[in-house]
Amino acid sequence: GIPDFVKIVEVGPRDGLQNEKSIVPTDVKVELIKLLVSSGLSVVEATSFVSPKWVPQLADAKDVLEGIQDVEGVSFPVLTPNLKGFEAAVAAGAKEVAVFPAASESFSKANLNSGIEDNLARCRDIASASRSYSIPVRGYISCVVGCPFEGHVAPAKVAYVAKALYEMGCSEISLGDTIGVGTPGTVVPMLEAVLDVVPVDKLAVHFHDTYGQALSNTIISLQMGISVVDSSVSGLGGCPYAKGATGNVATEDVVYMLDGIGVKTNVDLGKLMQAGDFICKHLGRASNSRAATALSKV
Ligand code: HMG
Ligand code: MG
Repeated sequence: GIPDFVKIVEVGPRDGLQNEKSIVPTDVKVELIKLLVSSGLSVVEATSFVSPKWVPQLADAKDVLEGIQDVEGVSFPVLTPNLKGFEAAVAAGAKEVAVFPAASESFSKANLNSGIEDNLARCRDIASASRSYSIPVRGYISCVVGCPFEGHVAPAKVAYVAKALYEMGCSEISLGDTIGVGTPGTVVPMLEAVLDVVPVDKLAVHFHDTYGQALSNTIISLQMGISVVDSSVSGLGGCPYAKGATGNVATEDVVYMLDGIGVKTNVDLGKLMQAGDFICKHLGRASNSRAATALSKV
């Protein structure tokens, strides 16, 4: 059955803002993160320590962490693609990091300039370095059902990467439909393959909503026992190396659905909408959350 409690991992400040054309000022990012925290979210992915040439939008990673250093009781994971990023993150005060290999070779090359195996080796380096700092490492897998270059991705490929991340000690493994092409028809066989090699309590799902399938994919994942869901306030987001991919499922829509079926999240929808309003006003555009749009009119 569906779990009683779902932990939401808010990825808007990272997955959302990495894909914005304009560069959002550091103080706006810091304010957004603080508003998200005040809605009750316990995990807010804050930024990425990646190459500023690849993702200029997040070049202020160190300053963002400095701006939230006084916020307590919340996890602020950051993406780290290699040891250079890991060391910079630790120096800036990060207490949790995330690695992000792909299940497809072509996407791995486009996103990280290296293939799957090379990447897994970098993830292993980060995982072993993190042990001496007692820093948990989250592992993302991109392209778990579809790749912008290769099309359908076989469940066995996802299970292979998931097993590698589990064996290197990742605290949580988040399965990413980077381009939002999945339906329960492809998500269920993928989850079944991963559940054969990784315990369900280590898994999270990360759905982009490009084809409007994210909530269906979320509910089917919960029915399979997963209780960690990644989402992005106002549905911000996309991946700069996955052309045409839109934002993550909107956090407001996930909370609205979970409230409706009586699943606890500890997130206050009204306060979450204030965070959404704040960033949408700054970006000068309407929210991608259907629930927030509807509720703001009633
Ligand atoms: P590369 O060009 O092969 O790197 O990029 P390199 O090791 O050859 O180094 C080249 C230059 O980059 C050097 O500087 C390095 O110092 C610098 P130079 O000597 O030329 O001045 N460099 C760095 N600078 C800062 N921080 C670093 C770093 N590493 C090297 N960590 C690299 C390889 C991995 C760095 C690059 O490809 C990269 O940064 N990629 C990240 C792309 C990215 O962030 N994508 C979006 C996140 S993934 C995603 O959104 C999917 C997800 O949401 C899940 C889903 O939706 O499915 C997670
Ligand atoms: Mg993503």
